[in-house]
Amino acid sequence: MNPITSPTTNSILAFSLLVIGIVGVTHALLMLGRNNPVHIKYFRWAHRISGYIFFILYLFISFVMLQKLSRISTPLPPKDAIHAYIGISIFPMIIIKICIVRLYKNFYRRLPIYGMIILIFVYLAVSINGGYYILSAIKSQYIILSEKGRFLKVNVNIGRKVVQQKCSTCHSLERVYAYVKTEEGWRNYVSRMRAKDPAILSDQEVLQAVGYLVKNLGIDDAKMDVELGMRIILEKCHKCHTLERIFTFKKTQVEWAKTIELMRSFDPNLLNNSETKQVNYYLSEVLAKKKGES
Ligand code: HEC
Ligand code: HEC
Repeated sequence: MNPITSPTTNSILAFSLLVIGIVGVTHALLMLGRNNPVHIKYFRWAHRISGYIFFILYLFISFVMLQKLSRISTPLPPKDAIHAYIGISIFPMIIIKICIVRLYKNFYRRLPIYGMIILIFVYLAVSINGGYYILSAIKSQYIILSEKGRFLKVNVNIGRKVVQQKCSTCHSLERVYAYVKTEEGWRNYVSRMRAKDPAILSDQEVLQAVGYLVKNLGIDDAKMDVELGMRIILEKCHKCHTLERIFTFKKTQVEWAKTIELMRSFDPNLLNNSETKQVNYYLSEVLAKKKGES
């Protein structure tokens, strides 16, 4: 189910492919360009070895990428589609080059050009995704989540993409952004969503989505936050009456708590317990009647 290599490993493999390609092409150019017969054996040997390694590594990366592609059920974003097309087109170019070496020696003198073209394609394919991945990994925000007893650092920026791409396949993202939840709440939601279509998210993506959701739409029951309480009220309390109904009132803390319980009895799905705490905190801080006020 899960890919055999992580995105970080894939980036490292891709950059290794580029480096080996550069080594191979450089040796071919030094050998043919200088016309210096002294070290020709060494250059030919180095070029050949790097060629074999390049081909094997290319096949391995293609295998990993095809495996990844076969798991994706949503349309590829343009960047990934370009990456995939460039990556696939390298294959026939390698085959042509091998054919020339083995069968069509008349074209031999053009080989360095073909080598360089392949190298440029590798560069394009690697930089559009691997390079992007590394840049975004450097710039990203992280959140620590515990997973099966281990603590994992989760990339929030990748989580945002996962949510934007995967959580919008069945319903609008509005439905996602209308909620704030505790970490446990989001974990439950994401597993419930995954249960509807298990192929849509990998384990890694589940964790990344949860990381993003907790970071941006999370509630921490241990941390009361006036702004969050207000956000929840603005988001949820206008379904049955105007918000004026709320903000023109002054009540004591106990009266507010009772009002909120009443509202929850009108609509049991209105607020979960964590949201209720934050709303009550906002009301008691901002809209509470102080002692002595009428
Ligand atoms: C396979 C289709 C599918 C995918 C993918 C999906 N959802 Fe849902 N989602 C549903 C359905 C169906 C419902 C309504 C039934 C329910 O609540 O279980 C729903 C309801 C929800 C709700 C409650 C909305 C409401 O108004 O009650 C939230 C929040 C939510 N999804 C979040 C997410 C998140 C976050 C993701 C991405 C990790 C996601 N969904 C991906 C099918 C999906
Ligand atoms: C499901 C519909 C519904 C939702 C959603 C709703 N309310 Fe109400 N609310 C009502 C109704 C019905 C009344 C009138 C009840 C009454 O007058 O006894 C009311 C009245 C009120 C009042 C006036 C109560 C008073 O003492 O006169 C306040 C304040 C209030 N709501 C706050 C909120 C807040 C805060 C939220 C969001 C957490 C909210 N409501 C969400 C249905 C709703």
